[in-house]
Amino acid sequence: MAFVRAAKLDAVPPGTMREVSIAGTSVAIANVSGKVRAFNNICLHEGGPLCEGTLTGQNVVCPWHAWEYDVETGKIVGNSEIGVEIYPVEVRDGDIFVDID
Ligand code: FES
Repeated sequence: MAFVRAAKLDAVPPGTMREVSIAGTSVAIANVSGKVRAFNNICLHEGGPLCEGTLTGQNVVCPWHAWEYDVETGKIVGNSEIGVEIYPVEVRDGDIFVDID
């Protein structure tokens, strides 16, 4: 798959996240101080929706049991062995594009 339009940049202001579905995959889009990041929205613990958690700096805390992920790497904070998949992002003309392959 190639890059697909996922959301308007205006819909994800700095410090916020939103969930989009791309080809059946739940993807979280986060705006970290103007840098847009995309990662799999499903927590590795018990499937909590990460985009409904708390974004602090570049870390997101799962809303269900507080596992914490670095959205730059997808890795769990304090455990670089495991993490959620991160996806390439491009911002073009006010639109966010994500490639989930
Ligand atoms: S489901 Fe995310 S921490 Fe438990």
